[in-house]
Amino acid sequence: MSVSEVQQIKGVVAQLQQGHLPSDLVFDACMPVGTRRHTSTHFTPVEVAVEAAQFLCSGAWENPKILDVGSGMGKFCLVGGAMFEQAHFTGVEQRKSLCDVADQLLEYSELNNVGFLCGNIMNVKFSDFQGVYLYNPFYEHLQPFSAMDETIELDADYYGIYCGYVRKQLQRMPKNTRVVTYFGGGEEIPLNYDLVKQGFHNDLKCWQRR
Ligand SMILES: C[S@@+](CC[C@H](N)C(=O)[O-])C[C@H]1O[C@@H](n2cnc3c(N)ncnc32)[C@H](O)[C@@H]1O
Repeated sequence: MSVSEVQQIKGVVAQLQQGHLPSDLVFDACMPVGTRRHTSTHFTPVEVAVEAAQFLCSGAWENPKILDVGSGMGKFCLVGGAMFEQAHFTGVEQRKSLCDVADQLLEYSELNNVGFLCGNIMNVKFSDFQGVYLYNPFYEHLQPFSAMDETIELDADYYGIYCGYVRKQLQRMPKNTRVVTYFGGGEEIPLNYDLVKQGFHNDLKCWQRR
């Protein structure tokens, strides 16, 4: 990554910490050029990330641990971590190239309430978390033309398997657990969650465990 990209993430984090939202253009300029082509379709817009993180961080827990299922290059976690310092954000991402970008951005951002894990969500136990964010992570298995690249095996069967795993994990979470979905049909959400709020043309949905 170039020096200007590094300086950019520091500036972006400082702006967020002061309560000012950078534009997506400014945020996305922190990424390596090859990753930028995916920003508008695969990474959460800053405004949406703030709204989602705000809901996840204002529930029953004072210092909630938030999980981003399929964290990409870390945009949601970095925005959330900069704005909500009482919370901790963990992103899990299976594409190694995106994990590497996320780790670099995190290092330069100097946030100590964010972490990234490289691997499949199927190996993560949700019981360590009180809030979960999902930006339609498994859609590419239904619509392979929408995939970012071909570094993972795409198969419609995986959609059902991954949604089923997430649904089962969420079902067992304690009362008041909060979940936010951005796009998607809500297949990951169990019946014991209520839809409590919507925004951004109803693409953002906020859920709470009964
Ligand atoms: C739409 S992007 C969202 C990225 C990020 N959450 C954001 O909002 O900026 C979904 C990401 O989920 C990742 N993903 C999909 N299936 C996954 C799985 N089973 N385990 C881990 N990551 C996964 C994809 O590689 C992709 O980077």
